[in-house]
Amino acid sequence: MPKSLGKIIKEAEEKKVAIGHFNVSDTEGLWAIFNSAKGLNLPVIIGVSEGERDFIGPKQAVALVRSLREEYDYPIYINADHTYSFERIKEAVQAGFDAVIFDGAKLSLEENIRLAKKSVDYAKSVNPEILVEAELGYIGTSSKLLDEIPEGAEIEARNLVRPEQALDFVQKTGVDLLAPAVGNLHGMLKHASNPNLDILRIKKIREEAGIPLVLHGGSGISDEDFQNAVRAGISIIHVNTALRKAYREGLEKSLAEKPEELAPYRFMEGGVEGMKRVVEKHLKLFNFM
Ligand code: 13P
Repeated sequence: MPKSLGKIIKEAEEKKVAIGHFNVSDTEGLWAIFNSAKGLNLPVIIGVSEGERDFIGPKQAVALVRSLREEYDYPIYINADHTYSFERIKEAVQAGFDAVIFDGAKLSLEENIRLAKKSVDYAKSVNPEILVEAELGYIGTSSKLLDEIPEGAEIEARNLVRPEQALDFVQKTGVDLLAPAVGNLHGMLKHASNPNLDILRIKKIREEAGIPLVLHGGSGISDEDFQNAVRAGISIIHVNTALRKAYREGLEKSLAEKPEELAPYRFMEGGVEGMKRVVEKHLKLFNFM
């Protein structure tokens, strides 16, 4: 039987590598990610946001990932990414997710703490093995191509998480994983590179908070920043926009090349191949391969 997700994260910390977390909207994405990870023999986390899990079905998403884990005896896990209400946390916990994220980054700090703690208490009462993550600091909400940095997520010291704030948050909520704002952004700037990460801040937050850290907004981050972030203490990295872009571009190419093709499993191939390349590239980077 594959190890628990908690154990896999601990091992990644010991090896000083990060686990890739990739979002999907359908089975094409799921197979692309699974086959890429399996080809490199690396554990992987599948993420579904509220919109993505509504499209697949929350229970169906869990069943698909679990079926791969069981059939292939493979360390693949599923996370209920960015969940904005306690009701949807409950739904995800009951559906059997391996991990859930309560995202209260846009709420007041007090409300974020209150609902993150409520999520932890509820989730653990139903499934003691489940991991609960929370977000501290706003980094935007959409995995899309951006014209500019979203309002409220400007990379300024006042918007980034301070190490002592992270410790206080962890102590008050009991979360297993923390995703702090450290210069990262959801989405990818269209006409510029994404800003640099605050690597020293990551290191200090990891030391102070005492729990594994998650880096969101992986699309648009430079290779060098990724690896320095992992060295500084990041254990999981989320990528979505880059994958969506590769899917769409690959699919458009496939459709243009095969204008008469009606079988989806043939015309979807280009999208799947595009996603595989993105996943492989990131997994190699996160694991210093
Ligand atoms: P990107 O869309 O910027 O890769 O961010 C993804 C993410 O953090 C999902 O949780």
